[in-house]
Amino acid sequence: MGTTVSLNEPPRTLDVLGVGFGPSNLALAIALAEGGPTLSCRFLERQDSFVWHGNMLLDGSRMQISFVKDLVSMRDPTSPYSFLNYLHVHGRLQDFINLRTFFPTRREFNDYLAWVAGHFADRCDYGEEVVALEPEVQDGRVLRLRARSRGRGGRERTWLARNVVIGVGASPRIPEIFTGTLGDARVIHSSSYLASAETLARAGRVAVVGFGQSAAEIFLDLHARGVAVDLIARAPAMRPADSSPFVNQIFDPAYTDYHYGRRVEERERILREFQNTNYAVVDPDLIETVYGVLYQQKVDRLDRHRLLPRHEVREVRLTSGPDGVLLDLASLDEGERRIRRYGGVVLATGYRRQQHHRLLEPLTPWLTGEGVRRDYRLATTDACTTGIFLQGCNEPTHGLSDTLLSVLPIRAREITAALAAPHSGAGVPERRNAAHAF
Ligand SMILES: Cc1cc2nc3c(=O)[nH]c(=O)nc-3n(C[C@H](O)[C@H](O)[C@H](O)COP(=O)(O)OP(=O)(O)OC[C@H]3O[C@@H](n4cnc5c(N)ncnc54)[C@H](O)[C@@H]3O)c2cc1C
Ligand SMILES: NC(=O)c1ccc[n+]([C@@H]2O[C@H](COP(=O)([O-])OP(=O)(O)OC[C@H]3O[C@@H](n4cnc5c(N)ncnc54)[C@H](OP(=O)(O)O)[C@@H]3O)[C@@H](O)[C@H]2O)c1
Repeated sequence: MGTTVSLNEPPRTLDVLGVGFGPSNLALAIALAEGGPTLSCRFLERQDSFVWHGNMLLDGSRMQISFVKDLVSMRDPTSPYSFLNYLHVHGRLQDFINLRTFFPTRREFNDYLAWVAGHFADRCDYGEEVVALEPEVQDGRVLRLRARSRGRGGRERTWLARNVVIGVGASPRIPEIFTGTLGDARVIHSSSYLASAETLARAGRVAVVGFGQSAAEIFLDLHARGVAVDLIARAPAMRPADSSPFVNQIFDPAYTDYHYGRRVEERERILREFQNTNYAVVDPDLIETVYGVLYQQKVDRLDRHRLLPRHEVREVRLTSGPDGVLLDLASLDEGERRIRRYGGVVLATGYRRQQHHRLLEPLTPWLTGEGVRRDYRLATTDACTTGIFLQGCNEPTHGLSDTLLSVLPIRAREITAALAAPHSGAGVPERRNAAHAF
């Protein structure tokens, strides 16, 4: 198992080390196994077992993408790791057909992903967080990377690899005004919601900040638990996600070439123009449900939930007494301020994709600054022949599909092909990447 450094034995050098074992690197593990080059590979995952955004596996929460966009089907519909084969193996294919949907629950899709991950358990070490990636320099050249990981109890392990594929996902976006409250159990980000839901439900009225998909789902979950909620957002209204067919073509694999081929300013314009496919928007059916809940409480002459659009939190005070969390809320229309009291606050304020920067810092002298190539490999100087590949953080260069499940199998095939190609060292200079350089 593994290629750790022991005192007596130097570590074996892996061909490929995957950092993170979410859907991105799982899709890569399958592509490597299904006809990819024969490469030794290993994946390190900080969670103790496979879970796909476990704290948001809410009752009734549905996929926002067709199940056909599973880990393999767009690359090879005959792969045994398809969602349809998962249904077949679990004896639910006919039952699923009768649901007449392309959008399974997130709980079922998580079960599918975990089932696939189980087939690759021999290639993944769980409970290992990669804390550093360092160059192994020999005669001024970087031929291998050394990864350091931390496991249970703080134990450290070291790994050597000729290629590293980083697929570490996102981290919570915490509004600056809330950074001082981190660590207090009453203020949480949506990514830890389920772990805290019961405690929050006992705490009294809850403020949910944001008007995105996470905010809407958490609002309904708290409503179902009988909790009074204030939904607070800067936007004037909860807006629908555009998933109409022509617009949806921006998530087709072919669009990656189109996006990558544009100049920096054009790419930025495209990302702005299509923001409403993915960010600060809510599935239209869910909007109807939220509206229905708020309407029904009017019928019932209740004042349980409050919708506070065009509001911003200007100050946060954590009290030790029964006052709970005090939020100073400003109306962005009238400028009027009002202090409101909450048992808890959920920041459904989205995510950032910056984690790779910290990991890549020690490699800065070998990065040309030309960013990520079309094949997801970071451009490096001639002195570095190690392949460093990035998945899920290339939205600026590769388009909106990069953070989603949309192109996973195709991206995995492209990275697999790049891993099989002889190392060329430096990336071809691609000036148009300069604005998103590393
Ligand atoms: C609640 C929620 C629902 C979503 N639903 C959809 C959807 O329906 N459709 C869609 O297309 N997209 C959806 N997304 C977008 C999501 O980004 C993708 O579905 C998918 O999770 C991307 O896979 P990934 O492997 O790149 O990232 P992740 O799924 O985030 O996986 C990254 C993995 O890396 C691990 N990791 C992080 N840092 C380290 C480290 N230093 N060392 C070791 N391991 C590490 C993490 O524990 C994690 O398991 C959703 C996102 C959220 C937050
Ligand atoms: N069922 C599912 O499949 C499911 C469930 C949940 C999430 N997701 C996915 O996960 C991704 C993220 O969704 P998300 O809802 O978590 O995040 P999001 O779409 O990025 O929305 C974040 C919300 O927080 C607000 N916000 C951000 N910073 C703020 C600040 N400093 N102060 C006040 N408000 C702030 C934003 O408002 P502004 O516009 O004012 O910035 C926006 O309303 C999306 O791809 C989504 O589809 C999927």
